[in-house]
Amino acid sequence: MNQFEVVTLSEFILNSQSQFPQAEGDLSHLLHHVGTAAKIVNREVNKAGLVDILGEMGTSNVQGEDQKKLDIFANDHFINSLHSCGEVCAIASEENESFILFDDDVARNGKYVFLMDPLDGSSNIDVNVSIGTIFSIYKRKTKVGEKATMDDFLQPGTEQVAAGYILYGSSTMLVYTTGQGINGFTLDPSIGEFCLSHKLIKNPEDGVIYSLNEGNYLKFPAGVKQYIKYCQEKDAATNRPYSSRYIGSLVSDVHRNLLKGGIFMYPITDSAPKGKLRLLYECNPIAFIIEQAGGKATDGNQRIMELTPTSLHQRTPFYCGSTNMVNKVEEFIRVFG
Ligand code: AHG
Ligand code: MN
Ligand code: MN
Repeated sequence: MNQFEVVTLSEFILNSQSQFPQAEGDLSHLLHHVGTAAKIVNREVNKAGLVDILGEMGTSNVQGEDQKKLDIFANDHFINSLHSCGEVCAIASEENESFILFDDDVARNGKYVFLMDPLDGSSNIDVNVSIGTIFSIYKRKTKVGEKATMDDFLQPGTEQVAAGYILYGSSTMLVYTTGQGINGFTLDPSIGEFCLSHKLIKNPEDGVIYSLNEGNYLKFPAGVKQYIKYCQEKDAATNRPYSSRYIGSLVSDVHRNLLKGGIFMYPITDSAPKGKLRLLYECNPIAFIIEQAGGKATDGNQRIMELTPTSLHQRTPFYCGSTNMVNKVEEFIRVFG
């Protein structure tokens, strides 16, 4: 590829398919639809300050959290777009209590189930701060042609065939993996295409950024408190003290730490004894991405992608990012609890 050659997401998906004979055309078709849906959600995110789409809708989702209009727009749009693509037989979303079954003749033959957090970091919408979409794709367990069931969704993260996120930031990026490394595409608004901008991203083994909601400090387990103190101590050999950076939008915090090196943590707290983040459509896809970049993602003890899901909206504590940093916090948790 010469310096002037632009590789669009669609081209890249097609090229990757021809390079890997085991890759399947229907997954490529599905990913292509994700890219198109992302562009439309991006358009709405960009004009959020201009039209009456900002603000709360007065309804709350299954977690009892306020839903914003953009959450609903993104949710509806991804659902409709993936339904029309025909490769997906059912979708699970943060915004819907049960999964959505596509029961028409075409979609019933779809080989995949799709899980998503359609709008991540929604508390940041009103203040023009980066937000995201997270997605995870599995092959269904039930037979093609039959109705999808909960078993199709309750698969461990190791079974994901693709995962990714869209970051609506100072520029819009789509980052995804099908298990052959991760690549990032930046939306060029002048041509309306995601263009390959970050080839085979590697997460540095070490970093100098730690990210968590430190306002919860008093509620954290002892090991996490000790690790935070460790991050703040002065030690030239290990580049400490580290910098604290926290946006409050998982996609943005993870993206920064993925590129620069760092650790993202959402531990258990007294008030959230299982953690806050959702295993199936937040932690598993991010874990797949991070691992594909050479990083590590655990619940403080066990690999996230090996956890056995028991329900759609289950939560888990989450530690991910530069391998040596995740190893370190695990060490503290082992010793201090
Ligand atoms: P969502 O907007 O999809 O509900 O997700 C918000 C999540 C995640 O993006 C972020 O890491 C975390 O919640 C922030 O939580 P705190 O406000 O408790 O720090
Ligand atoms: Mn989220
Ligand atoms: Mn969300």
